[in-house]
Amino acid sequence: MKQGSMKTLLIAAALALSAGGTATAQSASDAESAMRTLTATPMDIADGKQLANASCARCHGADGIGSAPFMPSIAGQRPAYLYLSLKDYASGARADANMREAIKFLSDDALMKVSAYYAGLDPAETAPGGVPPARPDALQSGQKAAAACSGCHGATGVTAIPGIPSLIGLDAKYLVEAMGDYKSGKRKNDTMKAMLASLNDKAIADVALFFALQTPARAKTNAQGNAAAGKAAAASCGGCHGETGVSSSPATPSLAGQDAQYLVAALTAYKDGTRSNDTMKGMVVALNATAMKNLAAFYAAQQPKAPNVPKPVSTSEWAARCNRCHGFNGNSTDPRLPMLASQRADYLQKSLMEYREHRRTSSAMVPMAEGLTVDEVANLAGYYAQQKARAVLFVPLPAK
Ligand code: HEC
Ligand code: HEC
Ligand code: HEC
Ligand code: HEC
Repeated sequence: MKQGSMKTLLIAAALALSAGGTATAQSASDAESAMRTLTATPMDIADGKQLANASCARCHGADGIGSAPFMPSIAGQRPAYLYLSLKDYASGARADANMREAIKFLSDDALMKVSAYYAGLDPAETAPGGVPPARPDALQSGQKAAAACSGCHGATGVTAIPGIPSLIGLDAKYLVEAMGDYKSGKRKNDTMKAMLASLNDKAIADVALFFALQTPARAKTNAQGNAAAGKAAAASCGGCHGETGVSSSPATPSLAGQDAQYLVAALTAYKDGTRSNDTMKGMVVALNATAMKNLAAFYAAQQPKAPNVPKPVSTSEWAARCNRCHGFNGNSTDPRLPMLASQRADYLQKSLMEYREHRRTSSAMVPMAEGLTVDEVANLAGYYAQQKARAVLFVPLPAK
């Protein structure tokens, strides 16, 4: 390592990392060789440098900093991880024609040495290739879009206007479906059609998520019917909408705390066919105007509940989970796990998408990446690219 370099060294003890205890499915002999990268001698590293200049530098540069799109930085990368990656390319476990070609004539010993060499170089100060601006998270976008709805539906989806529905207590899936029906004209309402005209699928999903996560409260409107009579009539509705109007199925709307006038209008629309739904049409044929008002009064008086919709995970919340393996701010202190800090954002994004789509295998990473949305992948890639890389000096301890 260069003298007087500005990089911070973390000292990690490569304890209990003896052969066999690997995170992935590598063989015991690979694991053992991978750990040899930690005890490489200056001679080994000098050999590694020669190999790097002859076989790697034309793509990875002599400094190991990824200077072309999607070219990973390998300088300062953890030594055992580098070695294990090379073995994965050699075996085809990781598919890349360039890499396979580049190492096909290299012995195991050569792979160990070239890994030790690149691991000892200074990592990139800042990620080459720049970092694209963070994509706004779904909840923020949803909140922004919901501003246009607040005049009618209330700022947090609790209506104060008779005839206009509250949007709280409803599952995001139902809200998306309802908005889609207005857009397509299946559900006829000119106001709503106009309101949603400029929202694409993503904006609709985001605004639905925003309302689904608001605190439920009863509509701030009055009901006219007889709630006690409505309760008796509601017995035939409870199987789908819940006994107190809190539905447990995402596709069936909750009715608890909904504006009574809207409920009557909805039941009327099912009855006269202006809102088409076979299930509901069958349920309302026998209801007259008084019965509808009574049902509406009963449901309006019930306490709405939040649907079971999980709050999205923020980039920093995700990163806290990733850091359990990849180290503080992506500075791994396990020599087998890749450092993510200051890696190229485009390469990180590509790698995560490969795990997500099963084009790159890893029992640790595939389940992790499957839980990420495309936007979360992009934001995590940008996040790690912006973290400061710290080199690690591994102190191997003798196996017990
Ligand atoms: C022809 C260009 C080329 C040459 C030569 C080449 N590489 Fe690569 N290398 C790549 C590309 C492209 C990738 C990214 C492949 C992928 O996404 O899996 C890569 C990936 C890697 C990785 C994985 C990095 C990571 O973070 O997972 C390592 C390690 C690596 N190369 C080391 C080497 C070494 C050591 C040599 C020389 C023995 C070498 N490469 C020669 C193009 C090259
Ligand atoms: C000008 C008033 C107005 C504005 C602004 C408005 N809406 Fe509506 N919205 C209504 C009315 C009225 C209905 C009931 C229409 C019907 O009977 O089908 C409704 C119904 C809905 C429903 C169906 C609820 C259910 O229980 O099925 C959803 C979802 C909805 N609006 C979402 C939105 C969103 C999202 C926005 C903002 C982008 C918005 N609305 C803006 C008046 C408005
Ligand atoms: C077999 C299941 C089922 C039963 C029983 C049922 N519903 Fe429904 N209900 C639904 C489904 C599904 C929807 C959503 C239909 C749509 O998308 O228009 C719905 C929609 C509604 C809506 C519109 C809510 C909104 O936010 O726009 C009202 C009001 C309603 N039902 C009232 C009732 C009442 C009152 C009864 C009893 C008389 C009843 N339902 C019985 C399944 C049922
Ligand atoms: C249980 C431990 C674990 C967790 C948690 C974890 N990773 Fe990983 N990660 C690994 C391992 C092991 C590898 C190496 C897999 C391989 O060889 O392909 C890896 C590889 C990667 C790579 C490829 C690096 C390269 O240079 O090619 C990226 C990118 C990555 N992880 C990002 C993440 C992100 C983002 C998260 C959080 C959403 C995360 N990881 C959570 C263990 C973990």
